[in-house]
Amino acid sequence: LRKRELGVWRYLDFLPVKDPKKIVSLNEGGTPLYKCENLAKKLGLKELYVKNEGANPTGSFKDRGMTVGVTRANELGVEVVGCASTGNTSASLAAYSARAGKKCIVLLPGGKVALGKLAQAMFYGAKVIQINGNFDEALVMVKELALENKLYLLNSVNPYRLEGQKTIGFEICDQLDFEVPDMVILPVGNAGNISAIWKGFKEFKETEFIEKLPRMIGIQAEGAQPIVKAIKEGLLEIIPDENPETIATAIRIGNPVNATKALDAIRSSGGLAESVNDEEIVEAQKLLAQFEGIFVEPASASSIAGLIKLINMGLIDKNQKIVCITTGNGLKDPDAAIKASKMPTEIECDMEVLKKAIDD
Ligand code: F0G
Repeated sequence: LRKRELGVWRYLDFLPVKDPKKIVSLNEGGTPLYKCENLAKKLGLKELYVKNEGANPTGSFKDRGMTVGVTRANELGVEVVGCASTGNTSASLAAYSARAGKKCIVLLPGGKVALGKLAQAMFYGAKVIQINGNFDEALVMVKELALENKLYLLNSVNPYRLEGQKTIGFEICDQLDFEVPDMVILPVGNAGNISAIWKGFKEFKETEFIEKLPRMIGIQAEGAQPIVKAIKEGLLEIIPDENPETIATAIRIGNPVNATKALDAIRSSGGLAESVNDEEIVEAQKLLAQFEGIFVEPASASSIAGLIKLINMGLIDKNQKIVCITTGNGLKDPDAAIKASKMPTEIECDMEVLKKAIDD
């Protein structure tokens, strides 16, 4: 390992970069792994950690993939990059392409992208196009543009993205002094991240930095769960969901491009897949904020919601070491948070009224 601080480029020797001078970085990675004793106690668990990817430069794990993906674009000398996105990928690509001096085109599902993410993509200067359709349709369209050489595609079909994201696995090992967790639980949308993290753990095992592998647990929203269905029904391939729907707009995806790799990650790690509904997601989002001070977006909270559901189903050994990955910052989706909150009490500027309001 490089003698450098925690972060994606600490693992340069594991990354497919030919010319380190071409690296485009915003100091991504090196995110906190919080030991969550309050939540563990509430859930009756011995050892629970949250790996908070919301602490990345643009507020999601996508930055780990983009630093490697845009570095590759730089090496190739391409001028235009692009992606389809439920929001975070577009925010991240817009930032990294700005830093690399490249033009950026993003396709979004109209009306279904959280406000913070839309603000980011626009403000970093990307060409933002909203389609009257969902993410899966946007991805088909942008793939076609890539095949026509109109842009270099930076969705997770691009293997360089996954190479960057596998560093989440490396970092968890590093932060736990190479005591590998028994389970890693994370939200699944387009299914790149679970595949990437699994690859990371496997590479660390091959290099003998670690002795065992964790079980990979994929959580999807009830209204968008093709991977969960395929796992539960023992299918070799997923059946796409034509009308995905969930409050967790980041994972509102019916036809994940990395499904095959994700099914392999879950199956060969002896893992699990489970779905959670919108109510469970919001409840978990609040729990994490109010018990641990960690504010995550709804999609990210699905990892905690999934953990709770699996505990209730009796599928969790409470003495095990569990890591939940929270993939995006709560500030990404202020609407969802406000909707789930009690609005502030409004009063006149009067001390007596104030004291009464505090006690109410
Ligand atoms: N969590 C968040 C916050 C996400 O933004 C995403 C994906 C996921 C989880 C799922 O990760 O796709 O690798 O399985 N967001 C993509 C986007 C689709 O466009 O921002 P995955």
